[in-house]
Amino acid sequence: MYLSIWCHNLNLSSRSLAIALVACVTLLYFSYSFNACLFASLSRTLQQSNLRNLLALPQRNGTSDKAAAVASDSNKTTAGVVAASAAVLPLPPSVDGAPKYQMLRQQGLRPSRHLPDTLIIGVKKSGTRALLEFIRLHPDVRAAGSEVHFFDRHYQRGLRWYRHHMPYTIEGQITMEKTPSYFVTKEVPQRVYHMNTATKLLIVVRDPVTRAISDYTQAASKKADMKRFEQLAFVNGSYAVVDTNWGPVKIGVYARYLERWLLYFPLSQLLFISGERLIMDPAYEIGRVQDFLGLKRVVTEKHFYFNATKGFPCLFKSEARSTPHCLGKTKGRNHPHIDASAIERLREFYRPFNNKFYQLTGINFAWP
Ligand code: A3P
Repeated sequence: MYLSIWCHNLNLSSRSLAIALVACVTLLYFSYSFNACLFASLSRTLQQSNLRNLLALPQRNGTSDKAAAVASDSNKTTAGVVAASAAVLPLPPSVDGAPKYQMLRQQGLRPSRHLPDTLIIGVKKSGTRALLEFIRLHPDVRAAGSEVHFFDRHYQRGLRWYRHHMPYTIEGQITMEKTPSYFVTKEVPQRVYHMNTATKLLIVVRDPVTRAISDYTQAASKKADMKRFEQLAFVNGSYAVVDTNWGPVKIGVYARYLERWLLYFPLSQLLFISGERLIMDPAYEIGRVQDFLGLKRVVTEKHFYFNATKGFPCLFKSEARSTPHCLGKTKGRNHPHIDASAIERLREFYRPFNNKFYQLTGINFAWP
């Protein structure tokens, strides 16, 4: 009897034990799941805000492509730092940052750097910066911001180095670079040919006399005690002999440099832009450039206005600035007065070379 009562008691207590055990396990399970969720969400938030700071990722609004490139560069340099965390949690998909790529990123497409398809190879002081700034208004053109000087100064660094200096592009966009000294540097045509035989070449040219004066003005702005233009452009103080070894004069013999390029590239791969017309009618010249590059004519007269104070065409807005602006102070400088006889003598000197250049290009630039 006592045994049966004891047994009954035992049954009762083991049932309650079992119930308590189940309750405990359920409680533990819910508590664990809740904590795990909380932890994962917290660490994800921390990870993303850390990465954003680390990579200086731009926020959604007002992000320039430059910032995107910087962010992407930072991504490279901080790759080692983020690698460990990347193994635990995936990197945010927006390391390239730019909102204009957002839709493509969502489709799994990522911008990447490419060697240039098109080069602005010269000619120095003919309007090369204006050309670059104008054509890069086109959404399908992305350009390296500064002159890379790969083919003339940094060739030994190799094409990987060069590509790293290019902007990020997505499929269908053209990569462009401008270094005006390429046109006159002996080794460059062959080097460009070896990179890509199909490279398109843009060359802005301007009356070589005005170009020489512009070149001199730039040099004089950097050197206080510079001799007068007339003293440098001629040998022995008279206007009889032109100093063809003086850089500003030498560069204006365009035909001589063009012949070297034509050894490697057919004329059809070269486009000559008139520096004079780029000032008078920028939309016309940019229209030609867009056609040559197989681009839709997006950049038109609507993008330009003439700034009477500056005396040059300026932009309503660009990739870098959304307000009307002109090129910097170093573009469109006032030239010093040059003796009229010196100018006349230089014109006479250039005439046969200009004619040769017209003949080679098939274009009469009608320089005086
Ligand atoms: P100047 O400063 O002597 O007038 P580059 O960019 O190849 O160095 O050429 C500079 C020249 O570009 C300037 O020479 C200027 O004449 C010319 N140029 C053409 N379009 C221009 C623009 N919209 N604004 C300023 N300069 C322009």
